[in-house]
Formats: sequence, structure tokens, C-alpha cells
Amino acid sequence: MPGELPAGLLRKFASVVGEAHVLTGDAAAGYAVDWTGGFTGHAPAVLRPRDTGQVAALLALCADAGVAVVPQGGNTGLVGGGVPLHGEVVLSLARLDRLGPVDPDSGQVSAGAGVSLQQVADADPALDLGVFIASRHSATVGGAVATNAGGLRVLRYGPMRAQLRGIEAVLSGGTVLSHMSGLVKDNTGYDYPSLLAGSEGTLAVITAARLQLVPRMAGPVTAIIGVDGPGEAHALARRAVREAGGLLSAEFFTQAGLDLLAEHAGLVPPLRPPTPAYLLLEAAGPGADEELARLAGDRPVAVATGAAERARLWAYRERHPEAAGFLGVPLKLDVSVPAAHWVRLASEVTGVVTGADPGARVITYGHVADGNLHVNVVPGTDVAGGSVAVAGGSVADGRHQDAVFSFVASLGGSISAEHGIGALKARWLPLVRSDAERALFARIRAAFDPAGILNPRVLPR
Ligand code: MLT
Ligand code: ZN
Repeated sequence: MPGELPAGLLRKFASVVGEAHVLTGDAAAGYAVDWTGGFTGHAPAVLRPRDTGQVAALLALCADAGVAVVPQGGNTGLVGGGVPLHGEVVLSLARLDRLGPVDPDSGQVSAGAGVSLQQVADADPALDLGVFIASRHSATVGGAVATNAGGLRVLRYGPMRAQLRGIEAVLSGGTVLSHMSGLVKDNTGYDYPSLLAGSEGTLAVITAARLQLVPRMAGPVTAIIGVDGPGEAHALARRAVREAGGLLSAEFFTQAGLDLLAEHAGLVPPLRPPTPAYLLLEAAGPGADEELARLAGDRPVAVATGAAERARLWAYRERHPEAAGFLGVPLKLDVSVPAAHWVRLASEVTGVVTGADPGARVITYGHVADGNLHVNVVPGTDVAGGSVAVAGGSVADGRHQDAVFSFVASLGGSISAEHGIGALKARWLPLVRSDAERALFARIRAAFDPAGILNPRVLPR
């Protein structure tokens, strides 16, 4: 197997974390494949430190040996940024799972990188984590900050970066940076916690975060409204943002995705007869039910207020990431455009994909109020690589990304709204970031990671 490590280095790792936490061979294999099955690599070792001191000691050893490292949290990433596609050592932060007490004065909490987002959300019954994503039971704080995770409530609370009040992280040489006092106002220099949010493990290894919690919303109401397509979904979501004071979510999906979930996951359709597309709205606070009823007007609608019924309605949207997976290994293209172009994006993107690959299947869904659309593509079988995972890379041959990302760039959009660039999109970054910007990225990166060992293949250097 290429890239095996010298026995002496493995022994040094073991002297830091103990032999039980240096995994090799079959024990390491599960850390080398991502959730979608689209990215499979090889980890010569998986290191499982239990605290920041051990992370620092391990990184110092890796920097000395010139060994590349991929930090990994819950391994729920979607762009191949957390798996060792080029034989990197995996640094699993799962054991950094200490969740501190919630500070009643600030409503903040300190969480280790390995704490799940659900654990943070459950830390105080009166408070909640503003970031809410379908993978919240597995996704961890370190990974969610490193990818600046977005999710289902960004329109109200912003992405992970907006929850961040402090960070602890380790530079590649082993230096620990800690700025965790949680000050809301703190103009004492560069805001590097914010810079690490979305840095995809390329600048430093995040070991803990200080997070601002939000008041838990009382009496949430969830509604799925049947609409005739993206135009009506967008117009209604715009109205909801303006008119529903307690709006938490505005989510879009289509009958095509729902059909797959009905066929393969047994979900009973929410509305009869079916409609071409759906808008899920959730709002809370006084009058939320009336606001949603007014927005729905005489359209077909399913409404829920109880926890079990709301969960049933949410499943139609939250299970969409699985839908395309029933057809093959999907390419998960996560794009955003200025609000004025979202309808065009959502209406035309399937044709853009099938123009490049007539046999492709396309499932779209997303966060309509954020200009974000998830374009899940299962390539046609005549495409090189077909819908088969390719070791060390992504599915298919790049023609789908070329088509979708060029279209998105022509609309002034982003090739990654919330999932990151990872390995999947690195090659297309020049479409949306200028030479000058990428040169600045490279200088920032060299300043943080002069050894060049942190996720070297993620985001072009
Ligand atoms: C979602 O919105 O469901 C997530 O970003 C995951 C996905 O796109 O598959
Ligand atoms: Zn999303």
C-alpha cells in the first residue's frame, strides 16, 4: 500500500495517544471513506487524541516528519474534504468531546471539537443552537466550524461562523491558539476565529469553540405548501421572510425527490394530489400558525404543531440528501446565486446537466430564502466512471461540474454555498475567485501552515 509510515513514527504517535488510539489497516478503513460513498482514500494511520495537548504533540510530530494530515470530525462532509484521498494521516477529533456548562449570563457554551451539534442544542432546555442540519446527531463542532456549516435555519441565525464567539485551535507546528472568553465586543486585532470558520482544515486544527446559543423558539409550526414550481416557491418564501416575524426556515423540494423517497424509503406523500414542488415553512412565536395559514392561502397545505407531526413533515425535506443515493452515487453540487436569479437556477439547472449528460438524473432541493440550491446529480451510465465511486476522487468525469458551475458563475453565484470546496470542487475555484484572491488565500495559508501539511489537497494552495 503506498504511503505507509515508518514504524518509528507510529511508535512516537503511540507514545502520545497510546497504542489503542493509533489505528492502522482494517481499523483505519472506515475513516477513509465519506458518507456519500463518493470518496474513498487510504489512511496509513488514524490518530485519536483525547485533548488539545495531544493534538499539539501529534501535529508537531507530523510537521517534523513532513506527513500530511486530514482533520476529521463526524465524517459527514459532502465534498471529500475530511477523508485521506492522497494517503494522509487522519486526525480524528471525536474524543475531544467535553461540553462545558452553559453560562447563564451570556447564553454561551464551550464545546470540544468532537461534541455533536445535537449535544450542543440539548445543553440547556431554554436555549438552542442556531445551526440546525440533518446530520446534527453525527456532525461535530470542529467540523461544522471548519466547514462553516449552514443548514435549515440560516435565514434566521446565520451559519456556524455567526454562532462563533471564540476558538481554540492548533497550528501545524503544534502551537496552541486560544481565544475563548466569548466577548461579544472585542476589537483587539484580526478575527482569526472567523477566518478558521470555513477554512476546511487547511489553516489549523480546531479543538474547541465558544458558541453563542439562541433562545429556544416556543410553539413552532411547520407547514408544507404545494406550489407549481420554483417561481411560486421563491415568491412565497420572499413574502414569508417579510411577513412572518418568527420565520425559522423556508425549504424547497420537488416531486421528483419525493417520488424517490416514497418508492425507496416508504414515505407517504404529504399532499394529495401531488404538486410539482413544495415549500416547507417553519415559524414560531405568537400568531405563527395564522401567519403560515395566510401565506398558504388556498394552496394545498399540510400543517403540524406537535413534535411528532412536525418531525414527520420535516422528514420530507431532511431525507432529501438520501434521495439521489437510491439511484447511484450522487455528485452533490451545492450552489447559490443572488436572490434575483434563484428561480432561473432552480428552473434551468436540470436542463443544463442533461445537456452535458443526457442520461443523468437530477434531484434539486435547498434553502430558497438563502439563494442556495442543492443539485444532486447521478451521472448516466455511459459517462466515464458512471455512477461508480472512483478511489481517490469523485464520481464521473467533471462534465457535470463544468456545466453547473459555469452556469452558476454566469449568474454571479457561488460553487459552494455551504458544503465547502473540499476535493470535489478545487479545480473549479478559479471560476468564482480571482487570481488576486487565490494568491491572497495562498499567503494566508502559508502563514498559518508553513509546513504545508494541513489538508494539502483541499482548496488549491
Ligand atoms: C441539506 O441541506 O440537506 C444539506 O446541505 C445536505 C445535502 O445537501 O445533502
Ligand atoms: Zn443544505
